[in-house]
Amino acid sequence: MRIVEVGPRDGLQNESVPIPTQVKLEFINALVKAGIREIEATSFVSPKWVPQLADAAELWPMLPPAPMFSALVPNVRGMQRAVEVGVKRFAIFTAASDAFTQKNINMTIAESLDAFRDLLALRPAGSWVRGYVSTAFECPYAGKVDPAKVIEVANALVELGCDEISFGDTIGVAGPSEVRQLAKRVATDLNPTEVFWHFHDTNGTALANVFAALEATPNAGFDASAAGLGGCPYAPGAAGNLATEDLVYALEREGVATGIDLAQLSVASASILNALGRAPSSKAQLAALAAAR
Ligand code: HMG
Ligand code: MG
Repeated sequence: MRIVEVGPRDGLQNESVPIPTQVKLEFINALVKAGIREIEATSFVSPKWVPQLADAAELWPMLPPAPMFSALVPNVRGMQRAVEVGVKRFAIFTAASDAFTQKNINMTIAESLDAFRDLLALRPAGSWVRGYVSTAFECPYAGKVDPAKVIEVANALVELGCDEISFGDTIGVAGPSEVRQLAKRVATDLNPTEVFWHFHDTNGTALANVFAALEATPNAGFDASAAGLGGCPYAPGAAGNLATEDLVYALEREGVATGIDLAQLSVASASILNALGRAPSSKAQLAALAAAR
């Protein structure tokens, strides 16, 4: 099963305390040591919109060579900056709600797809592209989202050349039956591509949603964030992502090998929480830290 660690990007983008690039690098190195193989490391977005990740071009060349690193790019400018420092795995991001895309990237969904067409023309050979569909269940500005719209946007991204699609419960409000419903539509109506689920855990339903998603999309991968950090600055009320510790614990307990060392992962999480001046809160991280004492 593919697990994409989004802590260094989604986890940090919403944090107001400035984190030095070196601290981000130490966090990433500790995640790698824990056996994480795919990491969304940063964003080449406007530093005016997300100041925390303004150091993307400084961080990228410092990353270790081994695991697969990816970065968010919103427009041609972001793509140029990313290509310049050697990024090969890109994540473009839109949503199933115009109200959200307007707040998040100052574009309608249609405008975002046009922008992506232009930026994807700059794709280097051998690159890989993820397409995010945010607000796949509910929008903080426009309410419930029609699953048909989610599939329509996802198929548009596949048509643009995305190699994988990640469906985001951006504000962490969905429950398992809604996830089951969308996952069934994904299984039948989405054009061939790899599927990921990206659950924020605002209401504690993320882990239940993982297992609901696996019923209809058993080959899907999952996004998660060490220590459950995360949130989108343009999605009010959104809490952190599903904690990677909680995901790893539950999968391993269900007999799915993740290759991730929970004790080492908890150490990685503790290091970034320390930098943020925050105490651990994910259940599996607390349990792993208690077991280590
Ligand atoms: P805009 O203000 O409409 O853009 O923002 P603009 O073209 O008018 O540019 C404004 C200024 O930014 C200009 O500078 C540009 O050069 C600069 P100025 O002339 O004023 O000095 N600029 C850039 N600089 C560096 N890199 C760039 C870039 N682009 C413009 N790429 C824009 C449009 C898309 C840039 C902006 O809205 C933006 O950066 N938004 C990103 C917001 C964001 O990162 N949100 C969080 C990520 S999405 C998320 O968290 C959801 C997800 O986790 C899934 C889920 O949970 O559902 C993925
Ligand atoms: Mg997110």
